Amino acid sequence: MSSLEYEQLHHNLKRLDLITLDSILDNYLEIAAKDEKSAIEILDYLIEQEAQSKEARSLDLRMRLAGFPVKKKLDDFDFKFQPSIDRAAIKEIASLKFIHNAENVVFLGPPGVGKTHLAIALGIEAARAGFRVNFVNASILIERLARAEKEKKLEDKIRGLSKFQLLIIDEMGYLPFD
Ligand SMILES: Nc1ncnc2c1ncn2[C@@H]1O[C@H](COP(=O)(O)OP(=O)(O)OP(=O)(O)O)[C@@H](O)[C@H]1O
Ligand SMILES: [Mg+2]
Repeated sequence: MSSLEYEQLHHNLKRLDLITLDSILDNYLEIAAKDEKSAIEILDYLIEQEAQSKEARSLDLRMRLAGFPVKKKLDDFDFKFQPSIDRAAIKEIASLKFIHNAENVVFLGPPGVGKTHLAIALGIEAARAGFRVNFVNASILIERLARAEKEKKLEDKIRGLSKFQLLIIDEMGYLPFD
């Protein structure tokens, strides 16, 4: 390959935003030549790496936009410690059908029983599955909505919130609001 072609190839990879492919190409082509890989094998490997890193970046962005206060996993929830929770019901929620059906899920219970834990864990499952998720405390949400209303920007605010496919409102019922 001439240096002009080489430059052009890297330039085009950047134009197409194929940043992983751009960064691993040179090294991998050397390895592939030694291992006598076929053109199909080389393309398959490079494109798979690009796809995986794109998915990882996209999940990373969804996780940042979600604003989870801490990370909690469904696997870390001890159902034996909390026998009043129906494991099958949580499994059903974790299938995320409720998002497709635009249904609400409500966790009710006294303090410290794992409502926030489950809400975050299920939110992370949804983010992993590709949904746009946002986690917010009810009091903060109400404050933001009230401020938006005062500034005559309530519709914009609601439109912004509607972009999320799963909105998790935590600590509902701790403060009265109209
Ligand atoms: N069954 C459980 N298995 C594992 N960890 C649990 C369980 N229940 C609660 N926890 C842990 O205990 C802590 C308190 O739980 P969490 O914050 O989810 O309670 P909560 O029901 O949201 O309480 P509050 O009403 O005060 O907000 C968290 O660190 C959570 O991970
Ligand atoms: Mg809580």
